[in-house]
Amino acid sequence: MFDDVAPRYDVVNDILSLGQTRRWRKIVVEAVGAAPGQHVLDLAAGTGTSSEPYADAGVHVVACDFSLGMLQVGKSRRPDIDFVAGDATNLPFADDAFDAVTISFGLRNVNEPQKALAEMLRVVKPGGKLVVAEFSHPTFAPWRTVYSEYLMRALPAIATKVASNPTAYVYLAESIRAWPNQDGLAAWIDGAGWRDCRYRNLTGGIVAVHRAVKPLAAG
Ligand SMILES: C[S@@+](CC[C@H](N)C(=O)[O-])C[C@H]1O[C@@H](n2cnc3c(N)ncnc32)[C@H](O)[C@@H]1O
Repeated sequence: MFDDVAPRYDVVNDILSLGQTRRWRKIVVEAVGAAPGQHVLDLAAGTGTSSEPYADAGVHVVACDFSLGMLQVGKSRRPDIDFVAGDATNLPFADDAFDAVTISFGLRNVNEPQKALAEMLRVVKPGGKLVVAEFSHPTFAPWRTVYSEYLMRALPAIATKVASNPTAYVYLAESIRAWPNQDGLAAWIDGAGWRDCRYRNLTGGIVAVHRAVKPLAAG
């Protein structure tokens, strides 16, 4: 499915999010707060849109994804970025290899997200950071109703006009509704062994950015 949507992935995102993705992505990069020369893993990186700001800032970013279609679009656009094929639940990296790991709009797509959170913990150095950006659940009930209508009616209708594989966007709407809320995801992050998990709601909770730290010593 991701191979299919790859060619028009970024432009469709901008349309369906009504331009919000740019602001969300900026906040994620600030939360990661990587310094030039540090090593960051951008997991489920797709076409590398979420990886570009790190490369632009002199951070060593590895863009990892299991869709070769997405990686090919990314590599042709940004040959300077390291694109690596890999499965989030069985990462092709050594223990403690990165200063930080981040995943934007990807964890919800992984079949076993809790396993991916444990793999992310393994490949980050003790004291290193996790930042997860994912669709979540609006906290204000009237806003939740408007958003739910948008997801189930408007979004698939717009996708039919602009996307190469509109069915993928029906999946998008359904997977967002089925995803745990902010506290539910925080519990998964804690359960995988991360510490000090906190989150910030964006656009009233349409997106949540969770951050956590790998403990310095096991136990
Ligand atoms: C919605 S895209 C997000 C791409 C990018 N992070 C962004 O912000 O634009 C989700 C990505 O998750 C990838 N993905 C899903 N399951 C995966 C897995 N088990 N391992 C690696 N990548 C996975 C898909 O191939 C897809 O490229």
